[in-house]
Amino acid sequence: MALLGSPVRPASSEFTANLAQHRAFSQQVDSARSSAIAGGSNQARDAHGARNKLLPRQRIDAVLDPATPFLEIGQLAGHGLYEGGVPSAGIITGVGIVEGRPCMVMANDATVKGGTYYPLTIRKQIRAQTIARENALPCLYLVDSGGAFLPLQEDIFPDENHFGKIFRNIAEMSALGIRQVAAVLGSCTAGGAYIPAMCDETVIVEGNGTIYLGGPHLVQAATGEVVDHQSLGGADVHTRMSGVADHYAHDELHALSLVRDIVARPGPARIAKPPLVPVPPKYDPAELQGLIPANPKQPIPAREILARILDGSEIAMYRERYGATLLCGTGAIGGYPVGVLINDGVLMSESAQKAANFIQLCSQSGIPLVFLHNVSGFMVGVSHEQGGIAKDGAKMVNAVSTSRVPKFSVIVGGSYGAGAYAMCGRAFGPRLMAMWPNARTSVMGGEQAATVLALVRQEQLARKGQRFTAEEAEAFKQPVRESYAAQSTALHAASRLWVDAIIDPADTRAWLAMGLSLAAASPPQETRFGVFRM
Ligand code: COA
Repeated sequence: MALLGSPVRPASSEFTANLAQHRAFSQQVDSARSSAIAGGSNQARDAHGARNKLLPRQRIDAVLDPATPFLEIGQLAGHGLYEGGVPSAGIITGVGIVEGRPCMVMANDATVKGGTYYPLTIRKQIRAQTIARENALPCLYLVDSGGAFLPLQEDIFPDENHFGKIFRNIAEMSALGIRQVAAVLGSCTAGGAYIPAMCDETVIVEGNGTIYLGGPHLVQAATGEVVDHQSLGGADVHTRMSGVADHYAHDELHALSLVRDIVARPGPARIAKPPLVPVPPKYDPAELQGLIPANPKQPIPAREILARILDGSEIAMYRERYGATLLCGTGAIGGYPVGVLINDGVLMSESAQKAANFIQLCSQSGIPLVFLHNVSGFMVGVSHEQGGIAKDGAKMVNAVSTSRVPKFSVIVGGSYGAGAYAMCGRAFGPRLMAMWPNARTSVMGGEQAATVLALVRQEQLARKGQRFTAEEAEAFKQPVRESYAAQSTALHAASRLWVDAIIDPADTRAWLAMGLSLAAASPPQETRFGVFRM
């Protein structure tokens, strides 16, 4: 094992400029976080409380073991979208501890448009279910929702990954022995009724809980029957007559304690200790904020980052002298062994080959992989193409795609193009993925995209015998730069669920350790690699 890192000079002008820059990014994220946490309007929250209902975060607090962490997934989803009106995409999801067992909790927020499902609400719940399935986590659905957001039906109803997928996931996880439990704390209408109806066990609360395929208005229109909500689908009906729900709760706290009792029964694994003794890094993770250059064109010091993330700041480097633009090595985070890959320059053929080999080695030993992205892409140019960089990059992408050890991704700087894919971007199945507040991701940098598009335009005009003046080219490029700048931020990515969270650099260790602890308790999967192009 080698020791990494060196002390920083906190008083240096560079360090303080970096910190100032970090604070500016973090302030934007914090302000988005506050709106997400607040949920619906004051009026909607007051009306909710007046019905003796707890807010979704209060429900989550009540169901979780006291003073245990909540690993929130997709908190910033929906930020700035749908005309700004859907905080947290109307559903709060995350992993928390119930009766000593990690569980995926999904709580509709009825203060946000009646808890109805927007396209992102569905994606967020499916993402939460995916994490639950990968880590074999019991699922707790705290339901209070008007079902589909009807004006957007074509974006939520018919397709493969639309509303129906949520119900199918419930059935499939149940078949895998992953417990599915619902607490009906408000309305569950139409399609939404299938969440409690599909679960293994369902609790319903007296007075506010209702489950029905069509509400009183629809029933009257369709059949002429006049009926109130509770007589149509309340707790009494479903626990005494229909059997759609199993347990009658007198109020919400009672309902949530019944959910805890169900989770407490013999079954899935409880949180276990890490295999190694966790050791803090030799260098303070809080210094990470001052190590990210304020100027994004300056390199991020990869070894210094690792020295503030890995246990004891220690790593066993793999082929340190070869393919040096990507550092690979094994170490531990919070007592969990990891294979870590961090960029230290542009990806070259050698670095990609080294990564593919390293991923094979970790997969053989069942060591989870952590990818820390800071990559502008793969090297371009005649000699690199002739050297076959495309096939070497493909080896790395192949290894990342097919390795079945748990993978985690954090974008610490930029993450662009095929480099983002090779470093286990979203499409490559990281169990969790996050960005630091300063981080950016897009197909290429804005300047490069503007230049490419301007050159294409210039050729088009030349074919027609027209000129593209320098002023015209500049006017053409500016909006491209601006749109790339706006679309590549961490907030933009998190609001669209391209990543699960924006995390503070100083919290990276704790966040990864939580993910690693979940993965450590889940059943290992066998890796079978595909054909590597040599
Ligand atoms: N689609 C779109 N918007 C909906 C909606 C739906 N399914 N259900 C409710 N909303 C909107 C309301 O228009 C209202 O919007 P506003 O704040 O801009 O006025 C907001 O959500 C809150 O609804 P409201 O009825 O005022 O709140 P509530 O707490 O009294 O009742 C529900 C909430 C969900 C029980 C009730 O609105 C309802 O029964 N909705 C219809 C449910 C339904 O039939 N769904 C079928 C889906 S397949």
